[in-house]
Amino acid sequence: MIITIDGPTASGKSTVARELARSLGFLYLSSGLLYRGLAYCLHAECQYTPEQMQDPHADDIARCVHDMKALSYETSSVGERVLLHGVDITTNLKTPEIDDYASRIAMTAIVRNAINAWQHRLAQGKDAVVEGRDCGSTVFAQAAIKFFLTACDEIRAQRWQRDQSKKGNQFTHQEAYARIQERDRRDTTRTLAPLIIPRGATVVDNSTLTVEQTVEYMITATQSFLDKKKSE
Ligand code: DC
Repeated sequence: MIITIDGPTASGKSTVARELARSLGFLYLSSGLLYRGLAYCLHAECQYTPEQMQDPHADDIARCVHDMKALSYETSSVGERVLLHGVDITTNLKTPEIDDYASRIAMTAIVRNAINAWQHRLAQGKDAVVEGRDCGSTVFAQAAIKFFLTACDEIRAQRWQRDQSKKGNQFTHQEAYARIQERDRRDTTRTLAPLIIPRGATVVDNSTLTVEQTVEYMITATQSFLDKKKSE
């Protein structure tokens, strides 16, 4: 069974999806981490410049994702990880540089198709919580349960500012707010798989909810879906 969680920047998707997957005993699949892994690989293995990220070559994508299986994704008790030739590169994927590269490659159809296929391979035959910006709307449009997680702009800006501060990057609230607005604009207006509320998704606004409350709400919704299915 597939559960998708889509939503805008700093809506808490990753934390909630990871926790929901853990509670249900499902695989947690972070699609953003796959985009980040591929961007890192194109930079490290193929020496791509930021400009080349916007027009990646099919052979290079295949080299990273398919043929040589340079990249792999796995989850364990310590969390989700991306490996490059068996070496854990996860901590290198959250830098401002990879933020930028990942958002550049994510605009191209060739990359989106490769990452979508990779997600399907990873989720094949498994129960999974898949999280990202187009999981319920495009990649797993037939998912059993879909959530759209969001929070008001003010709260998302605060969360983003706090996350950046933990990574040692200081931003004023005004700057954080502007960044959030810009990411939202890019995500919702892009031509390919823009961020939308997927058809059939339950919208969860967690502006005033804790992570625990949000996960609890989702577990209850999942349970009532399963009960309904059983009684059909
Ligand atoms: O969620 P994130 O910040 O880790 O995502 C990294 C980048 O990948 C971000 O620029 C948006 C892109 N992305 C996407 O286009 N579609 C997804 N399903 C997930 C991420």
